[in-house]
Amino acid sequence: MRNLRHITSINDLSTEEIEGIFARADFYLQKLRDEKAPYRIARSLNELPGAILAGLFYEPSTRTRLSFESAMLRLGGKAMASADPRTSSASKGESLADTVRVTSSYADVLVVRHPRDGAARLAASYAPVPVINGGDGSHEHPTQTLLDLFTLRRKKKALRNLNVAISGDLKASRTIHSFVYALARFGANIVLKPAPGMELPDDVAWRLENEFHRERTSDAQTGEVWYVTPGRQTRRRSIDAVYVTRFQSERWSNAAGAYPTVNAEFLRKKEFRTTAVMHPLPRVNELDLSLDQDRRAAYFEQAAYGVPIRMAIISALLASRAKKTMKRYPDGFPRGHEPLYEAAATSGVMCINSNCIVHDSVEAPYAARKFHLVGAEPPRLRCFYCETDIDTFWIADARSATVFANDEQPLDWSRKYVPDLRFYATPEESAQSGFPRRGTERTPEPMKRRASSRLRG
Ligand code: NCD
Repeated sequence: MRNLRHITSINDLSTEEIEGIFARADFYLQKLRDEKAPYRIARSLNELPGAILAGLFYEPSTRTRLSFESAMLRLGGKAMASADPRTSSASKGESLADTVRVTSSYADVLVVRHPRDGAARLAASYAPVPVINGGDGSHEHPTQTLLDLFTLRRKKKALRNLNVAISGDLKASRTIHSFVYALARFGANIVLKPAPGMELPDDVAWRLENEFHRERTSDAQTGEVWYVTPGRQTRRRSIDAVYVTRFQSERWSNAAGAYPTVNAEFLRKKEFRTTAVMHPLPRVNELDLSLDQDRRAAYFEQAAYGVPIRMAIISALLASRAKKTMKRYPDGFPRGHEPLYEAAATSGVMCINSNCIVHDSVEAPYAARKFHLVGAEPPRLRCFYCETDIDTFWIADARSATVFANDEQPLDWSRKYVPDLRFYATPEESAQSGFPRRGTERTPEPMKRRASSRLRG
């Protein structure tokens, strides 16, 4: 379908598109706001009469579901949701792919929340209507990030060079993964305050440095890890925002142990004097109730912006089908430009993230073994669905019958011979698939022919 766009990751949107969403949200706020509470939308308009939004929620949700529904109703459309997997056909064993193909005949846009990483991208690959990721496992929550950034921008005017501290479960919080990519793209500096054992996942940290051009430094005084604009020294100066997140208990098999709490005592330090205290909510114990009266608390205002921001998202996605208002990746950041490799259905590398949607027994038959080929040195394979990277693997060149490890020789992904490559977790697996390592490998020659249909990057 022409101009069909999905938002499965914050990186599906260009920086220019994000600015466009903010401008539209500002417009809705100005036009429709409650006179007594300026961040609250209190009226509706008739922009999308007859349009229908359907929510497919396989995990609990309050804010995301209701603010999407409110946003669609405020735009003059209609909203409905399948919000309890026990009462939907998921309980009969129906796959997400089938549910999406069916429900896209009932609605013009789908919002999907799912416990598996990469579920949104699987849904998007089957949907003839736009799919919005309402949170997929611990992968991403891009629309939360849009309202987080919008809040920051309203509080602090600009995003460039802001110092943003992030506290809590940085490993399993999907809100944080989308948020740090966006902060990096907008030139903010990030300081990590993880709970013990809940540091940012390696892949996310790798991308911050290698794809979003942040420099990793350690603060000499505190040992804290910062991601800053290259060449910029970390100086102890004010923290513009503290983003707090709860222990994601549903994604861990053990209890939290020592978990950082943000309270009046924590905020007493001089560096937090004008900080905005943010939280995607719900909170459990990590954000003290006494802060609700503190002028620095921004979290209820933040939650309120879910409505104008989601109005702007729905409007942009539905308008894009008719008017081409959303352009594709104009600012040159990486996603979408790497070649896509699809392994045979039953052999070749598998995603190494056990929570990826490809490892769900119901969904697996609907998911291909697809990877973006990330042209770093050494090269990486990035799962098409959950974006987990594999950084150690074996490559068989079908044309020259050579087998080599990914760090054995430089690979130029732009070479046309990529379609002749097969990827394996081990040399044994490669041998079982008919590509034994002979021990006298030579550098494969690039092929002089067009990329086959296996390459869709
Ligand atoms: C978040 C989520 O679902 O990831 N909630 C939300 O959408 N505001 C945060 C959380 O559950 O901790």
